[in-house]
This record gives sequence, C-alpha cells and structure tokens, in this order.
Amino acid sequence: MKTVFLIHENKDWSEPLEKCLQEIGLPYVEWYMVNRFIDMSTAPPDGIFYNRMSASAHSRGHRYSPELTAGLLAWLESNDRLVINGSNAIRLELSKMVQYSALKEVDIQVPRTIAAINHSGILEAAEFLRYPIITKHNRAGKGLGVKLFHSEIELKEYVFGGVFESSVDGITLVQDYIEAPDSSITRVEFVNQKVLYALRVDTSDGFELCPADSCEMDQLGHTIDRSSVFKKKTRPKFEIIDDFTSQSIAQTLVPRMERLMKKVGIDVAAFEFILDKDANCFVYDINVNTNYNKDIERKSKISGFTTIANFLKKVSKSQK
Ligand SMILES: Nc1ncnc2c1ncn2[C@@H]1O[C@H](COP(=O)(O)OP(=O)(O)O)[C@@H](O)[C@H]1O
Ligand SMILES: [Mg+2]
Repeated sequence: MKTVFLIHENKDWSEPLEKCLQEIGLPYVEWYMVNRFIDMSTAPPDGIFYNRMSASAHSRGHRYSPELTAGLLAWLESNDRLVINGSNAIRLELSKMVQYSALKEVDIQVPRTIAAINHSGILEAAEFLRYPIITKHNRAGKGLGVKLFHSEIELKEYVFGGVFESSVDGITLVQDYIEAPDSSITRVEFVNQKVLYALRVDTSDGFELCPADSCEMDQLGHTIDRSSVFKKKTRPKFEIIDDFTSQSIAQTLVPRMERLMKKVGIDVAAFEFILDKDANCFVYDINVNTNYNKDIERKSKISGFTTIANFLKKVSKSQK
C-alpha cells in the first residue's frame, strides 16, 4: 500500500478526512501548502497524491497557496506521480470561467455570464442582462462576493459606493439571477466519479453555503445579502435528497457530469444547480475541493470522508 499525500491549506477541513484515514489504517502524510517549499531539482516521494486545495484559500490568509499548489501538481505529474484531482482540477477550482467552459462542452446549461475586470466593464456587462442579476467572483468558494441586484441604481451604488469587493483574480462575473421558486439549490456530490448523494440546500438565509462542519458557525447569522427575496426559513438548511439518482433531472444531468469528470480527469467533486420556475436547470458551480457534514449525513448513513478514504485506499493498493 502506498502512502497518501494530502495536499491542502485548511486544517479544519482536513482533520475529518485524516480521522477516516487513520480508522482504515491508510498511511498518509499531510502537505500543508501554507509553509511548504518545493525543491524542484529532486524527485517527489513515492506515493499517491490527493489535491484538496481550495479557491477560497485567500480568505484564510493563504493568498498564494493555490499558485504554489498549481506548480506542485505540475512537478508531481511531470514525475509520473498519480494525483487525484490534479492540474485540471485546480484549473477548474480557481476559475468559474473554466468551469462554465467545461460544463458547456458536455451540454450542461449555465446561467448567462459575462466576465469583466473593472468597474465600467461590470456596468457595461450588466446592460446585456435583465435584472435581477448576480455579481460573483471568478475565483471564489463559500459564496464570496455573491451579490444580488434588482436595478442598475443598486449595481452602481455597489460598484462606486466604496464597498466593492474585487475577486482575488480581478475578474467579476455578471450573471443572470436564477430564481428558484422554493429558494433552494441542489448540490450533487461525487466520489470516484460516482454520485455519493445530492443535498438540497435552503438559500433563504443567503449565499454562503459551505456545508463543512467547521463552516457551520459562520452560517449562523452570517449572511451576505438580506434582500427581500429571502423568505422565512421553513426547513433545515441542508438535507440529503432521498433517491436523487432516480429523479428525471438526475438521469439527464448525472451522465453529463460524469462525462465532464472523465474528460477533465477529476474524481472528487460537487456540482451545484438551480431549477427555475419552469424547471429549467442551470449548473453554476463546481467544487473540486468538497466537504461533508456529519450531522447532515447521519440520517443517510453515508459518510463522504469515509467514502473518499476507502477510495484512496483502493487506489493506493492498486499502485505498484
Ligand atoms: N446565477 C445565480 N442565480 C441564483 N442564485 C445564485 C446564482 N449564482 C449563485 N447563486 C447563489 O449563491 C451561492 C454561491 O454562489 P456560487 O456560484 O456557488 O459561488 P461559490 O463558488 O463561492 O460557492 C449559490 O449556492 C446560490 O445559492
Ligand atoms: Mg457554490
């Protein structure tokens, strides 16, 4: 069995996976991409590598960890090391423009989106869309920078009002707002390119929707936009959907998502989609670094981290 190298920048998110690896006796080494250096003149150690770098690293003060990781993955791959969620995965993780391009390639509909890099560009982009619209960061995660606007006046106020938050890569996406009649989105989790489960997420409290155990505290009372579209909460924020794969929407979407994962070469991911009032489906986010919450999972008896640990064990055993 080969050692697994866990590449990440968030110990809170890594810990539950490490516990599962310990439980199944899979040897692992943590590569914390905050205080590492990489001697590129040497060969990487023997093992398999699992990349869990997050697009929101900068929000934890780790501004350059993703860039260091992109270089690290290139070094590993050029030395023929097996990387789960390698270079292509980090390209997706760090850019919604890359995500949307990949989604379109497999015939998955995305909300109409225009990318801009300065204030006047954002306003110009909005002229092509119909309000309400959303702005969001091209490099985000955790709903960073997602704002809803009902009019040009509101958008101008935001852009010029001194509170504008720029994406860490400078790219703001201006996007059609897709209104879900029941204020929910669906997040489909995949491990080993197979559906693990789908979560229904109630969005009536706002757009920060990280399901990780360690994010729970942030979500209580910490919302980005309290616009009138948010209704009073009537059900749990996250719940696993019973028998998602037998629903007709899953039968269309899942094979396309699987195709994308194969094409791009990613094994672990979560896709988020919204259904509008006419049941049109729009996928708007792919999370290559995904997290699970044990309280949400309890009822279903499926554990995302245990499934990943077992998957890594299988891969590790298959390597000579
Ligand atoms: N086009 C959209 N229409 C309606 N709601 C959206 C749209 N885009 C994002 N949202 C809401 O904002 C949340 C965060 O946006 P998302 O694109 O997933 O960013 P992140 O990558 O930061 O998670 C979504 O889960 C959803 O609730
Ligand atoms: Mg998201």
